[in-house]
Amino acid sequence: MNILLLGSGGREHALAWKIAQSPKTDRLFIAPGNAGTARVGVNVPISAEDFPAIKAFVLENGIRMVVVGPEAPLVKGIYDFFKQDAALQDIPVIGPSKQGAQLEGSKDFAKAFMQRHRIPTAGYKSVTAANLEEGYAFLGSLMPPYVLKADGLAAGKGVLILDNLEEAKKELAEMLQGMFGDASRTVVIEEFLDGIECSVFVLSDGTDYKILPVAKDYKRIGEGNTGLNTGGMGAVSPVPFADGHFMRKVEERIIRPTIAGLKAEGLDYKGFIFLGLIKVKGEPVVIEYNCRMGDPETEAVMLRIQSDFVDLLEGVAEGNIAKRTLTEDPRATVTVVLVSGGYPEAYEKGKTIEGLDEVPAGSIAFHAGTKKIDGRIVTDGGRVLAISSYGKDKEEALARSFAGANAIRFDKKYFRSDIGFDL
Ligand code: AMP
Ligand code: GLY
Repeated sequence: MNILLLGSGGREHALAWKIAQSPKTDRLFIAPGNAGTARVGVNVPISAEDFPAIKAFVLENGIRMVVVGPEAPLVKGIYDFFKQDAALQDIPVIGPSKQGAQLEGSKDFAKAFMQRHRIPTAGYKSVTAANLEEGYAFLGSLMPPYVLKADGLAAGKGVLILDNLEEAKKELAEMLQGMFGDASRTVVIEEFLDGIECSVFVLSDGTDYKILPVAKDYKRIGEGNTGLNTGGMGAVSPVPFADGHFMRKVEERIIRPTIAGLKAEGLDYKGFIFLGLIKVKGEPVVIEYNCRMGDPETEAVMLRIQSDFVDLLEGVAEGNIAKRTLTEDPRATVTVVLVSGGYPEAYEKGKTIEGLDEVPAGSIAFHAGTKKIDGRIVTDGGRVLAISSYGKDKEEALARSFAGANAIRFDKKYFRSDIGFDL
């Protein structure tokens, strides 16, 4: 079967790497892809959000499945675009409908959904300019720190955590006045939860599901989880504290009611559900939903899936995922992200990358922000590469990824050398 994968980051290189290994894959195209995806498939210069261009490409190239990497095309309704088009409606899109994608696209929607289905999550109140005073009163009823979340998509930057009540009130007012554009015209105020986080990925056909290997990501730029938030600086799988006992609670209290709730509300959801969880006094609580895989978690998780990934995706498309097999690699995997100096603030692009061939065996250099110019591979983003490795344990995998990270050279390269330190 010919497959089109949408997106251009490290997540998409890891998905492409795994999809390309399937005997069910004839041709794999990535739109728009990066210099890494070009090594496992064919890049096509189409934006993941240009639906008419995607339609033309799909029809001209006999595409039989579209896999969506990032959230933006899903929140914009690519699933519905295919379903409503006579020429496209039989071609499965792996990802939820526009309504289903609201689990990520609107924090207010997600909180109300969890409340309706009694899924454990932090107490909250949604506020707009019209009920700002109620927002202040709710903040006053909470203990610090205070959590403020822009309702809409804000490129991972829409969450503020503040220690001081006056500061939280001031930031709330500023968010409502458009600090994150329209994304913060509604703000969700949440009770602060104290615990350790992990990422659980569920692949669902709308009725049944498979739970993919659990991972933990490291979002802060600095060692010891300090400094600004980034898209993600590294990830580890498995996660020791997400043991069988914990995962049974996750399945019973969160995964089953989520999928049953989507179905009961008539929200088409055939794709990935990313549960951002926090373990509070041993109990799982949902911090957020995303409607896609995590980045950089995917760069660790794909290595731990032994079975044919396209077979699982076909199970989603055909509504029989329960009949498919998911086998996990027992080894540990990690990924360490190499970023451009200055990221997540201002940084330069276009730096020549050397040493890609010197990454040791047992590691894979997934490309996140790279492109090829005149035969050279150059940096093309804040997050540049994700060095993923296997090991008999996390320590062995990390040693390999750090060796790979050191072998690669580009001007102002930076990475965190403490990924997995808290496990
Ligand atoms: P989100 O975009 O909702 O995942 O939030 C980004 C990050 O903010 C999370 O990964 C947490 O580290 C933190 N966070 C979000 N909500 C809470 C909360 N209610 N309590 C504590 N930390 C939170
Ligand atoms: N690693 C977190 C995310 O993809 O949102």
